[in-house]
Amino acid sequence: MLLDNLPNASTQLNAILKAFPDFLLILDERGFVLDYKADDSIFPFASKQFRLGQSIASAFPPDVAGKFQQIVQDLKQTPAIQSFEYSVKLQQTEHWFDAKFIPVEPAQVIVVIREITRHKLAEERTQRQLNRLAALRAIDLAISSTLDIHLALSVVLSQVTSQLNVDAADILLLNPQNNLLEFANGVGFRTESLQQTRLPLGEGYAGMAALRRQVISVPNLQRGKTGFLRSPKFAEEGFHSYYCVPLIAKGHVRGVMEVFHRTPLTPDLDWFDFMETLAGQAAIAVENATLFRELQRTNFELTLAYNTTIEGWSRALDLRDRDTEGHTRRVTEMALKLARRLGVSEAELVNVQRGAILHDIGKMAIPDNILLKSGPLSAEEWNIIRQHPRYARELLSPISFVRPALDIPMYHHEKWDGTGYPGGLKENQIPLYARLFAVADVYDALTSNRPYRPAWTKEQAIVYIREQSGKHFDPDMVNHFLKMITDTD
Ligand code: C2E
Ligand code: SIN
Ligand code: SIN
Ligand code: FE
Repeated sequence: MLLDNLPNASTQLNAILKAFPDFLLILDERGFVLDYKADDSIFPFASKQFRLGQSIASAFPPDVAGKFQQIVQDLKQTPAIQSFEYSVKLQQTEHWFDAKFIPVEPAQVIVVIREITRHKLAEERTQRQLNRLAALRAIDLAISSTLDIHLALSVVLSQVTSQLNVDAADILLLNPQNNLLEFANGVGFRTESLQQTRLPLGEGYAGMAALRRQVISVPNLQRGKTGFLRSPKFAEEGFHSYYCVPLIAKGHVRGVMEVFHRTPLTPDLDWFDFMETLAGQAAIAVENATLFRELQRTNFELTLAYNTTIEGWSRALDLRDRDTEGHTRRVTEMALKLARRLGVSEAELVNVQRGAILHDIGKMAIPDNILLKSGPLSAEEWNIIRQHPRYARELLSPISFVRPALDIPMYHHEKWDGTGYPGGLKENQIPLYARLFAVADVYDALTSNRPYRPAWTKEQAIVYIREQSGKHFDPDMVNHFLKMITDTD
């Protein structure tokens, strides 16, 4: 019952056919087997079950047989080659086949069945690799576009469950303060049984994975020696298999990733590799977020420290010179308000504020007998007073966080017409914040008591400021300042 019987087959053709391991069938138009050639090593089932004169359906699983018969029927209407891919379980493993149906005269169909399992597996593998690459890409994106650790971890975990084909996964983060592994994120759980997890390093599977820096595999949790004592409600989850990977970034253990499945798993090396890759991504996400949080905290603490320091200096000055008490606060408020009206950005306002608070810090270096003198100053004393912007620069320029705020302390006594000190700068050579500040400073000085004279009235001060427009002050600043002063009253 071999090819010798194939109708119209030449000897050469028969020889060629023998060289290929394909399964050949010749059917009549009802789908009954007229003849076949089978390679026993590939189709053991066929050689046992095939009978000449039987329907092709009798030798195949029902769904495949149904499709075969369908195709044979269709060929009567449309006589063109048709293909069909199907899989059959043979001795526990899945085999893939490609069946081609070729209508031939008179009223017969040649069926060529080829095993394509290897090709199919390669294709699946390629697809899996592509999916995994896409998963890693998605995680990378999530990690780099958010510093919200929980958002990043939930992206990682959803990829873990879909790419590793597992029911649930979670991440426990190591709290460096108390060395406890604490639940951070989870997906696929039915209960909240693990959300309270606070597992000491070295305890339980997770604690061991973190301590030993090793993957822990428990293919059957029922047979596990320790069991999951962590939570009494854990049994309700119905998990069967468990894997735990340490999260390590820059040599430090940051936590663990746990993977759970409710039925047995048969992971291959690829699967383990990918689980560790995903854990690596999770570790990076944790690392990034931690770094950012620490940076944020350090920044916040520094800013607090800076502002406290600045205010401390300025208070020390006010304490010496009782008459200027409140002056610093008032001119700082006026300068900020004026800067806002001039459209100075929020980010820059901090430099206006710090500069204003520190504007007379250089007076720290002026002796009391000059600073607090009640009468007019001698030329020599005046010379010393005029050094206070320079002292400010010497005092502040080594301190990086106030360096961007130095314009006001250094240039607030420059005058628009170039007759000011210390540099004799003119017009726009004088930094904007200093021009802006000078108006507020003189206005407040004039309307306050000084050791050398009593306070002027507001009206007198306004007349003076207007009169000094284009001499002492930038006319533009005068306009804005006077408008601001009259607006608010
Ligand atoms: P301050 O008292 O805070 O004055 C700041 C600025 O406001 C002065 O800068 C000046 O431009 C203006 N200003 C204050 N009071 C008057 C005033 O009565 N008339 C006029 N036309 N402008 C006034 P300036 O002049 O560069 O002075 C810088 C600092 O030198 C003053 O700060 C003050 O600490 C000190 N100072 C100035 N003149 C005297 C003085 O006659 N006696 C004493 N003991 N200190 C003086
Ligand atoms: C584990 O947490 O890793 C299992 C052991 C336990 O929960 O006690
Ligand atoms: C000065 O700087 O000495 C004048 C007064 C002030 O700026 O507050
Ligand atoms: Fe000053």
